[in-house]
Amino acid sequence: MKAIVIKNYGGPEVLQLTEVPTPSITDHSQVLVKVRATSVNPLDYQVRRGDYASLFDLPIITGHDISGDVIAVGEAVKKWRPGDKVYYSPRFGGSGSYAEYHLTDESSLSRMPDNLSYEEAAAIPLIGGTVWEMLVVRAKLKKGDTILILGGAGGVGTLAIQVAKSLGAFVYTTGQSILHEQLQHLGADVVIDHHRKNYIEEIQAYTKGKGVDVIIDTVGGSTLSDAPLALANYGTIVTLVDIARPQNLIHAWERNATYHFVFTRQSRDELHHITRLIETGQVKPIIDSMYPIEDVINAHQRIEDVKRDRPLLGKIVLSM
Ligand SMILES: NC(=O)c1ccc[n+]([C@@H]2O[C@H](COP(=O)([O-])OP(=O)(O)OC[C@H]3O[C@@H](n4cnc5c(N)ncnc54)[C@H](OP(=O)(O)O)[C@@H]3O)[C@@H](O)[C@H]2O)c1
Repeated sequence: MKAIVIKNYGGPEVLQLTEVPTPSITDHSQVLVKVRATSVNPLDYQVRRGDYASLFDLPIITGHDISGDVIAVGEAVKKWRPGDKVYYSPRFGGSGSYAEYHLTDESSLSRMPDNLSYEEAAAIPLIGGTVWEMLVVRAKLKKGDTILILGGAGGVGTLAIQVAKSLGAFVYTTGQSILHEQLQHLGADVVIDHHRKNYIEEIQAYTKGKGVDVIIDTVGGSTLSDAPLALANYGTIVTLVDIARPQNLIHAWERNATYHFVFTRQSRDELHHITRLIETGQVKPIIDSMYPIEDVINAHQRIEDVKRDRPLLGKIVLSM
């Protein structure tokens, strides 16, 4: 089969289209999936450049989202049959999605939403589980809460805005001016241009000094230290971004803040909630751009390039 193989860690050029053996079922609970589409996550380029080198033996196939068709199932698999349409995130540390076929345990599979194409579905699994974990499991977001989503135009942000809105929250987010209308269309009540304005001062002004109940951090930097200044008393900060340097959390005390640190473990139970929101029309995948898998190098360049001519909005999808 065709696959994008990484033989050495490095820049996008290490992503090489290669012919590799097609995997086959060796265990009763396994399922073989024909991959129809995948998408690019920051985790893909972090793996590619060697950030997780201690967890892998080269060569590797990366990629963390799959939509596709079940091709074959092990003897113990009762729930899935050849022809079923599925979507899921491959287990971190195993073989990834940048390949024509993927072998997985049946426990990782979810039924693909009825109303999505393969390309749309591939934009969801990793961010879907992550957003549900952040907003519902950790922040316990409820109707009437105020939330600030930092990085609203990103893969995580575009879905988080929609899910927060569906839960009845008042949504503040950050994004470049040129995207404000699109972010409002997704459900953001207020959009702050992070290139021109200081989000802490803006939130202080909008909330008359009270701050917001929940802050979602998808950008890192000094957010853990600074965000409490935009947080209401007893508010919650949920971060996705690991930063290997000390953070000063003194402002968190003044606010009686609660912090949650999220590293997604692929949970299909959480993805099921997103499937329901998609099928009831409350949430949709936002696709920034689409590339054939052969153009994966350009796709990685687009997500990593901080000086893009057009800002990123949503997910970059790779069709197989
Ligand atoms: N822990 C986990 O389980 C987990 C799961 C998923 C993702 N993540 C992490 O979460 C982060 C976001 O993922 P993603 O898929 O949403 O990334 P993405 O699609 O690349 O989006 C990043 C977004 O953040 C914005 N941004 C960058 N710097 C900013 C700043 N200082 N203030 C406000 N916005 C800023 C960018 O806007 P501009 O275009 O204006 O720069 C862009 O819209 C990544 O670091 C990823 O590794 C972690």
